[in-house]
Amino acid sequence: MIDGYGRHINYLRLAVTDRCNLRCHYCMPEEGINYMPRKELLTYEEMVRLTALLSNHSVNKLRITGGEPFVRKDLIHFLQAIRQQTNIESLNITTNGTLCKPYLSAIEKLEFNSVNLSLDTLDEDRFFQITRREGFKDVLDALDAFSMMPLNLKINMVVMSDTNIEDILPMAFLAKEKDISVRFIEEMPFNGGNDRAKASVWDHNDILNHLTQELGVLDALDTKHGQTATLFKAKGFKGNIGIIPAYSRTFCGLCNRLRITAKGVLKSCLYDKGVFDLKGFMRNGASDEDLLMAVQSALIHKAKDGFEAEGKRLGSMMMESMSTIGG
Ligand code: 5AD
Ligand code: SF4
Repeated sequence: MIDGYGRHINYLRLAVTDRCNLRCHYCMPEEGINYMPRKELLTYEEMVRLTALLSNHSVNKLRITGGEPFVRKDLIHFLQAIRQQTNIESLNITTNGTLCKPYLSAIEKLEFNSVNLSLDTLDEDRFFQITRREGFKDVLDALDAFSMMPLNLKINMVVMSDTNIEDILPMAFLAKEKDISVRFIEEMPFNGGNDRAKASVWDHNDILNHLTQELGVLDALDTKHGQTATLFKAKGFKGNIGIIPAYSRTFCGLCNRLRITAKGVLKSCLYDKGVFDLKGFMRNGASDEDLLMAVQSALIHKAKDGFEAEGKRLGSMMMESMSTIGG
């Protein structure tokens, strides 16, 4: 599958739920978002069908996102079906870690390529302030458990200029003793309409300057195709440090991804408002061939970059929550 700019699309991000047990300020308002009734969500069978189909046509990497994926019942069975019934080679998941404990051995057996663990602070009070929920210790336990598994562990920290700047360094130091990746993400405007007043937005340059002031010169590592993080090595660190210019969008030229939201809408860019209703099409009897053609023609119109996609929203405000998109 190739888009209108000749980019090979081999990476599917699939949101399995729009629900979450946390309420991170940058993602949702306090009351949460208007969750979809369950029948509005893709069923596991529908998700396996779509993934299997795409994995027969150049998609070899899958990331499971949410909401919080482990909020959805029977997630592990679904993931086993993905392993058994699709040709996905690289299986990955993004989780907040709070609900993983009962599933650790099942997770290990699934042979994830990577786990992205969301954690924005190492301070328990600030964790509560950011997520509006308890669960900090569970996340730290998940971090320890994942760091002992044979997978790439990446910690994702959203940098909020008014909230967790002082966490940047302690978080970076997690990569000193452990061979993990600690990634700092620019805050994006997907917070479900939550009116967060911000003094300023820390962009990737601010983050890098802050890190180098404290850690000295960081050596830039090679960027793999489609990678959104710029990776650096600090002297004496086992792991690496990444910066993701999610808001500045400097990586779009090499984009290799498509997204399916929890309610089955195809997004050809994180910043578009959804370009095709795969769920409706499937429920009206679309064949595999129909589905494939629909995805391919949507990809032909994939925006050049996140700015173009955002511009095409035609006045529809950025009221979405990351929990429905899956990041
Ligand atoms: N800006 C940047 N990243 C976000 N995420 C969620 N909302 C935002 C936002 N507004 C990312 C975080 C979180 C993951 C689930 O999605 O990395 O850990
Ligand atoms: Fe939940 Fe992730 Fe959104 Fe936080 S950012 S509320 S953990 S979906």
